[in-house]
Amino acid sequence: MNSFTNILLCLYVATVSTVVLPELHVIKQATFKYPYSCQPQPIKYENCALFLTQYGVSRNAPDLLYNGACGSDNVFDVMLAGSNFGMLSDLGDVPLETVSASKAFNYNRTVGQDNEFVDSIPVVKGHTYAAVLAKSDIRALFVFRVESYERSGPAVISYAVKQYAMMEVVQEAPGFDWDAPNH
Ligand SMILES: *[C@@H]1O[C@H](CO)[C@@H](O)[C@H](O)[C@H]1NC(C)=O
Repeated sequence: MNSFTNILLCLYVATVSTVVLPELHVIKQATFKYPYSCQPQPIKYENCALFLTQYGVSRNAPDLLYNGACGSDNVFDVMLAGSNFGMLSDLGDVPLETVSASKAFNYNRTVGQDNEFVDSIPVVKGHTYAAVLAKSDIRALFVFRVESYERSGPAVISYAVKQYAMMEVVQEAPGFDWDAPNH
């Protein structure tokens, strides 16, 4: 084997072995034991967050958080920390199977009826949601449905990933701040 082939092989092995990406369009289930802010000490993501990759687990960076204080209604969160952006949309009681990437943004495929995206969103049993992630290292689109839900208690979702990419920032403008005004 020549050295060029060797290098290619190494690169290939390194890439493949570091991150296993989620398989697109396949429906899977996730169970949350309790909302993030209503769990026994010590507080951790393990039983209240969806991790789409082991990379997320290793970085303690979930892709979706099941959250809410004890005794209050629960919400899903995606905008988790740093300069990460994420948005969620509640599409209502529509079958998860029908939500393509295109329908994740405009379920009815009708001009003027774009799905509305917000930061954190109430958990409703039987509703289907779309999530967009624009984090420093992840760009993703996934859809999920609340199969069962107990206020301040456990929840089960079904989900399918529509797009997922690991990103590397090449250059970034300095000075990002959530509260910086403009001048
Ligand atoms: C799609 O259309 C139906 C029927 O007009 C409407 O009830 C529903 O809210 C629309 N869905 C979205 C996500 O806009």
